[in-house]
Amino acid sequence: MSSNPQRENSHTTAVSAAFDRKAAVYDAFGEDHPHLNQMRQRVYTAVTQHLTPNSHLLELNAGTGLDASQIVARGHRVHATDLAPEMIAAINAKVEAMGLHGRLTSQQCSFTQLDQVTGRYDGIYSNFGGLNCIPDLTTVTQYLPQLLKPNGVVVWVIMPPICPWELALFAKDWRVATRRLHRNGVTAHVEGVHFTTWYFSARQAILAFGDQFRCIGLEGLSVLTPTGDNKTFNRKYPHLYRGLHGLDQRLCRRWPFNGWGDFYILTMRYVPKT
Ligand SMILES: C[S@@+](CC[C@H](N)C(=O)[O-])C[C@H]1O[C@@H](n2cnc3c(N)ncnc32)[C@H](O)[C@@H]1O
Repeated sequence: MSSNPQRENSHTTAVSAAFDRKAAVYDAFGEDHPHLNQMRQRVYTAVTQHLTPNSHLLELNAGTGLDASQIVARGHRVHATDLAPEMIAAINAKVEAMGLHGRLTSQQCSFTQLDQVTGRYDGIYSNFGGLNCIPDLTTVTQYLPQLLKPNGVVVWVIMPPICPWELALFAKDWRVATRRLHRNGVTAHVEGVHFTTWYFSARQAILAFGDQFRCIGLEGLSVLTPTGDNKTFNRKYPHLYRGLHGLDQRLCRRWPFNGWGDFYILTMRYVPKT
């Protein structure tokens, strides 16, 4: 997206409207979805493995707070932010229902306006492609040094251009198979709202962090297994799923598979220049 404030505003309004509508049905999709649950567990491991107990984390594009409540359950505190007001309402409902006051806080805020967030955090994470809703990751990374403690970690889960599962569908639906390869973004449809999304290679994402960050982890997520929106494959083809899952586990940290898949999990450490 070229730097055109009017266009950027209408894009942001569309994204917010789409996810406002999604908020009411979002958690239900994840119920009885072991594959998606297993993907989330991998993210929790990546987020928490570098933390000491009772760390304070900032979550970007937090959605309904599913992950935030899980990270809190693992002994940390989370400040969860999202663009869509209805997502923030869903987070607040979880805080009430689960009694998470003081350990899970929320703020309606775009990750392109993180100067509105105060505090210094031990880590900053973003799950399941929220960051694919913008064309330029430096509009987010510019704020990270002022939000992180030295040696703080950033864990971002981003959708890459290469997703073997989708590419394998070429004969069935070439549009889906090739959608991630469009450099200028592709139109997403969420709850009847259309907006552009962009796909970033791991190299592009790492470069967006600049020289005060060091890459300490990269792994593909669902490299050969179905994408997270496929809820039935593992039930219909349990043996094939188990085989693909085993291959995933063996390949996901090796180049080039570590930057492929439905998503990759990128972990960066903030090492400020003295
Ligand atoms: C696919 S959902 C992922 C939600 C959550 N992270 C999860 O794993 O379930 C994408 C989220 O990104 C949020 N989002 C999109 N653009 C955003 C922006 N500019 N700033 C903050 N959040 C944004 C949406 O409102 C939505 O909640």
